[in-house]
Amino acid sequence: MGFWKPRRGSLIADGKSVLTFIDDPKIDWLGKRVFCRLDFNVPLSESGEITDDTRIQAALPTITYLLEKGARLVLASHLGRPKGKARADLSLEPVATRLHALLGREIIFAHDCIGDGIKKLISELKPGSVMVLENLRFHSNEEKNDESFARQLAQSIDVYVNDAFGAVHRPHASVQAITRYISIKCAGFLIRKEIENLGRLTSNPQKPFVAILGGAKVGDKIGVIAQLLGKIDTLMIGGAMAYTFLKARGVQIGKSRYEEDRLHLANMILKKASSLGVQILLPTDHVVVSEFRSDALAQTVSIMGPDDIAIDIGPKSIGEFERAIHFAKTVFWNGPLGLFEWEAGFKGTFGIAKAIAESEAFSVVGGGDSIAALHKAGVADKISHISTGGGASLEYIQGLELPGLVALS
Ligand code: 3PG
Repeated sequence: MGFWKPRRGSLIADGKSVLTFIDDPKIDWLGKRVFCRLDFNVPLSESGEITDDTRIQAALPTITYLLEKGARLVLASHLGRPKGKARADLSLEPVATRLHALLGREIIFAHDCIGDGIKKLISELKPGSVMVLENLRFHSNEEKNDESFARQLAQSIDVYVNDAFGAVHRPHASVQAITRYISIKCAGFLIRKEIENLGRLTSNPQKPFVAILGGAKVGDKIGVIAQLLGKIDTLMIGGAMAYTFLKARGVQIGKSRYEEDRLHLANMILKKASSLGVQILLPTDHVVVSEFRSDALAQTVSIMGPDDIAIDIGPKSIGEFERAIHFAKTVFWNGPLGLFEWEAGFKGTFGIAKAIAESEAFSVVGGGDSIAALHKAGVADKISHISTGGGASLEYIQGLELPGLVALS
């Protein structure tokens, strides 16, 4: 698309053809020390409980496969953004405990991820044993993609496996630099599942293809919109982002949040969509409050007054969005349609979650908030593919070169 240039260059349109996967018969796992980069970046409650273990569950096929093959496993991940400092509240210990419960076997938890003590523990691992390293991001060198940190992670390791789909867009030491120090490397089952399903959106998707994008910022979604415009039939926009588009169309949006500096971009997208014959659905009614407080009195309006602040799409818009979803053969959804954490702002997001669940379309949902909404609405099991990657899935769909996949290929 002429109006948007991706940050990074070339495409991995068909990741399958350039990647080696763990079930490649050429790899002999027996007794091998395997560094397995996973995405255990799970949400935790204030008391440190894992509130959603989807990402841990998603890593199990790779872990159990490697265990069945007699490998010695060193599992590594980041958790949160501790910015190079050890933080008790971002320890991976709860993840090790959950793995113990899920796998029903002993899990060795290491209180760091590099150093002589860790090297010794790795050397002592028995075939079929599992060790979880402490949060990689407790070392700032992880995010700096530091070579000497990567070399230390690679010490005593025979094979590198990346199954952290959610982190493949990060050029970090455990994702990228480490692959220079381990000669045998491959991707796990989760990465294969993700690229196969996300690939169905970008290569020959079944039509009609409907994309639903929400969330706060146009800038966060512009790349994916640019990529999808050439493939989709309908684009529905909700969330705060919708108000930048409505403003660009000259609609009165009261005091609703919008991005002044993105109005031109919104205009260009609207023009481009119209030239390509893509239908754009914006909310036609709104749930509004006059004070930005979760307990403020909300009402539904079709035309916003000067003091109105939109917090959700209204029932008429939900109906219009639902109809388009009903006739779709392919659906992609990323980002909430309103302030779904608020009592008065959840109906749009929940309505869309349910409509996608009821549709017979091939459906892909990504992004933490949309996934949380699917779970809250109790319809997660009705979605064809829930991506474990937020940013990673958007970058994959855009056809951007993902450092973690390039490093394996
Ligand atoms: C995610 O939650 O999307 C991944 O775990 C990546 O986390 P990050 O955005 O902190 O790099």
